[in-house]
Amino acid sequence: MKRSLITGTLILLASLTFAQQKVQYQICDHDFRPLYMRHDLPPDAIYTDTTASAAVRTKDVLSRLSFDEKLRLTGGWNYKAFPGIPRLGLRPIRFSDASQGIRYSEYAKKRMKYFCILPTKSTAFPSELALAATWNKKLAYEYARSIGEEARAWGVSVLLGPGLNMYRNSEGGRNYEYMGEDPFLTSSMAVQYVEGLQGTGTLATLKHFIGNEQEFARHVADVKIVKRALREIYLPPFLAAINKGGTLSVMTGNNLVNGYPGAADKPLLKGVLRKEFGFDGIIMSDWANSTFWPKKQDLILGSGLSLLMYNNKTFADYIRHEIKLHPAIKDSVERKLDTMVFHNLYAFFKAGFYDSPYKDPALLSQIESHKKVALKTAEEAITLLKNDNNILPIDPDKVNKIVVLGTDEALTAYAGTGSGRVEGYDHVDYLTGLKNVYGNKIIHQKNMSDEEIGSADVVLYFIYKKTGEGYDVPFDMPDVNKKIAHYAKLNKNLVVIYSGGNGFSMPWLSKTKGLIFAYLLGQESGTALANVISGKVNPSGKLPFTIEKTFKDSPAFGYNKMKDGKYYWEGHGGSDRKYKKMFGDIELSYNEGIYIGYRWYDKKNIQPQFPFGFGLSYTTFKISDIKVSSKSIEKNKPVTISFKIKNTGKVAGAEVAQLYIHKIEPVIDRPVKELKGFKKVFLQPGKSKTVSIPVHLKDFAFWSIKENDWKVNSGEYLIEVGTSSQDILQKIKINNL
Ligand code: BGC
Repeated sequence: MKRSLITGTLILLASLTFAQQKVQYQICDHDFRPLYMRHDLPPDAIYTDTTASAAVRTKDVLSRLSFDEKLRLTGGWNYKAFPGIPRLGLRPIRFSDASQGIRYSEYAKKRMKYFCILPTKSTAFPSELALAATWNKKLAYEYARSIGEEARAWGVSVLLGPGLNMYRNSEGGRNYEYMGEDPFLTSSMAVQYVEGLQGTGTLATLKHFIGNEQEFARHVADVKIVKRALREIYLPPFLAAINKGGTLSVMTGNNLVNGYPGAADKPLLKGVLRKEFGFDGIIMSDWANSTFWPKKQDLILGSGLSLLMYNNKTFADYIRHEIKLHPAIKDSVERKLDTMVFHNLYAFFKAGFYDSPYKDPALLSQIESHKKVALKTAEEAITLLKNDNNILPIDPDKVNKIVVLGTDEALTAYAGTGSGRVEGYDHVDYLTGLKNVYGNKIIHQKNMSDEEIGSADVVLYFIYKKTGEGYDVPFDMPDVNKKIAHYAKLNKNLVVIYSGGNGFSMPWLSKTKGLIFAYLLGQESGTALANVISGKVNPSGKLPFTIEKTFKDSPAFGYNKMKDGKYYWEGHGGSDRKYKKMFGDIELSYNEGIYIGYRWYDKKNIQPQFPFGFGLSYTTFKISDIKVSSKSIEKNKPVTISFKIKNTGKVAGAEVAQLYIHKIEPVIDRPVKELKGFKKVFLQPGKSKTVSIPVHLKDFAFWSIKENDWKVNSGEYLIEVGTSSQDILQKIKINNL
């Protein structure tokens, strides 16, 4: 985090306006003044000295805390905050969901009375999955910077996002909060997200570490992931966001991993995050997680976890009880509490929270300007999957009648449900957006007659799958299938627009002319979609996941089939406990190991409906002249792959060039190809550009179980460049590794 600059500016601003703002810092009896405004603290206290390091300041605070205070500082406060230490002048720190904007809700208002001031206006950006579909790293930075500004405006210091789990299971309820199926794409976008957010002085929280790829029985399911898959697929986005992005906060998953409760997973939290990667920041539990395993509280101390959210009541009761029974253990328990508290306070000192005003009201006036970022993200996310006879774009001057069909829910879809939902304001829904462009050429009524549908120039049918936290969704949409079959008979110019975060079966695909995957596009969804449909914006989104033909093709198929042979759904608290009672331990084995997404479909030779990285444009591109800067690659000496990309069509547009690496004659099991680079290139018609993408030795590596480390085998590799994982247009060999 560019802390010194931000802190310096904030300190200056705050000193100038302190006189007027004084009242604001006493919020509902809590003093939110930064340390430099406090003149009632011990003058020699090291922790108030901004020139001392975060570690030294934290240790000084620790030396001043009682046992009870330390215990208190291992738990959350008032549902979404970290407690203050009033006698030391340390303010409470406020958290907020989540990845697609600052969440506010009636529910939160009731729970968070103590702040008195709650966010009442924040932008609903497109979902994180939509952000990944843009494949635009700069945009990921901008998107998160805007969220960070809104956080600062409202006094939120820690954002409970981004979500970095994998799209492994197309029925997964929270896929919309993640960035797709590929660790390289997710890592690249996550680093930008974290840098953009933290540049504003807001801390990013990477979640849910690890294995939260489905919501079914989410608090009790034991997710079994083999080591190689952990290293090659599930860990890299978290490690990249920590090491390159520099975040100081991680949230564990609700599920268990390989037998350990997520929030007390010593091998991964202490072993990998703390020891191997030297992560010194906060590792917090997901909300109320430890109450699902009250009898295993002993696993928490020393596991690497530092903060129990939303409170630590179960844990604190356990500690007090144990000390009462065995007073001699108090000292050793206290040392372990010290470690936990150290990580929490260290992150907040390092982030500068105790040295700067807790909010920046001047940024409230910036909120409206974020509509532009939300719109651009939505426009670049929209993924055109089918466009027969160039049914799209529809020229507003040449069309007479467009019939719009779909339920109210489908026509107003913009966000998922659960903690990832952001309300937003000034919504432009799909119908409004289309009417703004096509006026009264848009026809939409309830119970439209077959004649009316048949007489339209084009029919736009909006479909939607509700998705969210605790809410996995079936792959198939039987009602929609019936309707599409009917509409396709009435009108041959049928375009289907899907909103949601999950793939689905399309038995009707050959009967439609057009198909758009619209994700959940946030409050500007209608304007973005109308701009794409009318051709004002040329679509450039690319699927960040594979859409299989039938869920039976997926490696995740059968994840929710229980011992009685039936399929069960959802992961709400109540249903979790019910399932546990019915079936005992629930194991969800990721048997496919490293083969998720395109790695699976490639390996098994299963043709998907739409491959990873796929998306059409209103123009065409040619990729040619691939070259490599050196035929061999060495450590610390990246090789540059360059190629030419040309817009060969008639309109301006952007293509995402994707670079995959394929091992020729592998001696160990390897994916057919793996994404290791990409670049989004915007070109005017007829123009071309030479694109260069560096590849490093580590991009050729696999995780060796034998050596417990990354390893690169010598031999030949193919570098493949294309416009999707199945549209490879250029190849070049690298030898002699
Ligand atoms: C969710 C988290 C969220 C937290 C706080 C939990 O139920 O799983 O993703 O950040 O609630 O709202």
